[in-house]
Amino acid sequence: MIEPHAAKALKPLYVQDPKQRAELISEAATLPALLVSSAASANAVMLGGGYFTPLPGFMDLADALGVAESMHTAAGLFWPVPIVNMVRDAASLQGKRRIALRDPNVDGQPVVAIQEVQKIETATDTQMQRMTERVFCTTDPKHPGVAAFNGAGRTLISGPVTVLSHSYFEPEFPKTYRTAYQIRAEIQGLGWDKVVAFQTRNPMHRAHEELCRMAHHDVGADGILIHMLLGKLKAGDIPAEVRDQCIRAMVQNYFPKGTVLITGYGFDMLYAGPREAVLHAVFRQNAGCTHLIVGRDHAGVGSYYGPFDAQTIFDREVPAGALRIQIYKADNTAWSKKLGRVVMMKDAPDHRPEDFINLSGTKVREMLSKGEALPPEFSRPECAEILKRYYQSTAA
Ligand code: ADX
Repeated sequence: MIEPHAAKALKPLYVQDPKQRAELISEAATLPALLVSSAASANAVMLGGGYFTPLPGFMDLADALGVAESMHTAAGLFWPVPIVNMVRDAASLQGKRRIALRDPNVDGQPVVAIQEVQKIETATDTQMQRMTERVFCTTDPKHPGVAAFNGAGRTLISGPVTVLSHSYFEPEFPKTYRTAYQIRAEIQGLGWDKVVAFQTRNPMHRAHEELCRMAHHDVGADGILIHMLLGKLKAGDIPAEVRDQCIRAMVQNYFPKGTVLITGYGFDMLYAGPREAVLHAVFRQNAGCTHLIVGRDHAGVGSYYGPFDAQTIFDREVPAGALRIQIYKADNTAWSKKLGRVVMMKDAPDHRPEDFINLSGTKVREMLSKGEALPPEFSRPECAEILKRYYQSTAA
């Protein structure tokens, strides 16, 4: 099986043993508490699940700056995005060695992890701006990822973590939420060797579906891992439970049995385009996948990134050998009216733009909120129906 990132074995930081976990939760009740940001809580969950192997916890300022600048920590580890616990005010934490991180996303704010405090450092304005610019390719406060990154505070609490919960992801998505170690175990149990991962934060439409089928075929994969984001999204994006229903309907009706794993991970979307694509590759490798599909405007938002920037970063900025997982680069994919099927545009060079049925996310939302049906060339009827019902329920 493919090795985890920069490690021989996965290093999940979640405490598996229930007795040990209960003891640590009791200890946490006696520790100074810190209510963390949603992003930091999701980072802890990802560290817990082994997705962020080999990181032992939250990065310090030097590592965060190095990672933002050149995708390397001070010790030379390849890593694309700062994994940080940033707060506004750390005055109460001065001199504390162990702290309990409280989860803002669960009622009662239970402990998500215990952190050893190694350093407390405050980034300057210039450092925050530089990190933002490098990671998101913009400092525009209207960019949802930039807003979240800059909105949590700029004091970094760094040090290793021991993770005690999977936050709301496990109870709310019991069928879908998986850790990286669970996915590795499933892949191993199925005897799959080559596995194509599909990142998604959308209900899967026909282009998404076809991308999975094409990648599966082209790389000669044993199976497909649909790996949906279950964490926070920007306003207007479709909730995870609705996307999950659409994806399940699509897989059940249109994929051969036993070829697809429907799974999800607990992380807040960064909308960091190319850098997030590289992070996606790192944590799919950690989940045991050999390939990751990267298509048009992967992890993008608005017009901050070029449509294929998330592909070219792998050629231009990821050093050879830094990752083992391979990128399946997909061209713009849409229904061809001439051919009567979904194709990659590069495979239909004689087509004009009007020969394709291509709906933007905005257009899709507009149609659904007016109660209009999505065309069957764009969306499977089972999925279109689920989306229509969801939009009708929100309008009510
Ligand atoms: S993302 O933010 O998670 O990337 P989305 O769920 O829409 O958004 O996309 C999942 C994957 O499918 C990404 O790799 C994206 O680039 C790719 N993709 C989505 N739509 C298309 C399309 N029409 N043509 C090519 N690739 C696409």
